[in-house]
Amino acid sequence: MRLYVNVDHVATLRQARRATEPDVVAAALACEAAGADGITVHLREDRRHIQDADLPALAHALGTVLNVELAAVPEIVTRVATLRPFQATLVPERREELTTEGGLDLGRNVTALTHAVEVLTRAGIRTSLFIDPDVATIDAAATLGVSAVELHTGDFSHTWQRSPTALATLARAARHARERGLAVHAGHGLDYQNTGLVAALGDIEELNIGHSIVARAITCGMHQAVREMRDLIRRAQPSC
Ligand code: PXP
Repeated sequence: MRLYVNVDHVATLRQARRATEPDVVAAALACEAAGADGITVHLREDRRHIQDADLPALAHALGTVLNVELAAVPEIVTRVATLRPFQATLVPERREELTTEGGLDLGRNVTALTHAVEVLTRAGIRTSLFIDPDVATIDAAATLGVSAVELHTGDFSHTWQRSPTALATLARAARHARERGLAVHAGHGLDYQNTGLVAALGDIEELNIGHSIVARAITCGMHQAVREMRDLIRRAQPSC
């Protein structure tokens, strides 16, 4: 199972002062040195954290791979297609939200999404869709010709302590997506308490984790924060 670390919050801190530190590239390299398999950033339309210049700087510096999250809006799609990162993950975006809330609505946004998938795929980028863990949505995603889906773990991360339902939903969705030939990723709200449960589901091959790792890094450093997450994922994975 791959761990991609989302370093948006490093840029959030930098942008709080419109300063040059903390350095997003240095943080990403520290994640890699601690065992991250890739780095994820979200270039939002409002540029609240990651800035345009961060993308080529990261793409140039990384020894692993870059996964860029983006909304299906032409300006951003063109920018990402030109950069040609290893992976692009299409996500829904609303200006007033604190973070990405809910997965893509594949019924409503099908024209823009189809176009974005075509442009990104034509540029040679592995393309993924961030969706809720719902069988009908997975079936719709499979028709769009993407390589992967990232299952939204927000519901799970809010309810796992009270109820096992969201984990079972996630497990069913992951199995269904794999049976449909899609690579299965997951993320949102995963932390040092709940990630092990998701890592134990055999059908998921990539986790995208940001907030909890960057938050932990503030007290113990990025290297230790990533290393702890990397180790707990490894311990939780089913042995084959
Ligand atoms: N995956 C996607 C598609 C996201 O939008 C985010 C949040 O930026 C994450 C994963 C990471 O979520 P968190 O910061 O809660 O770990």
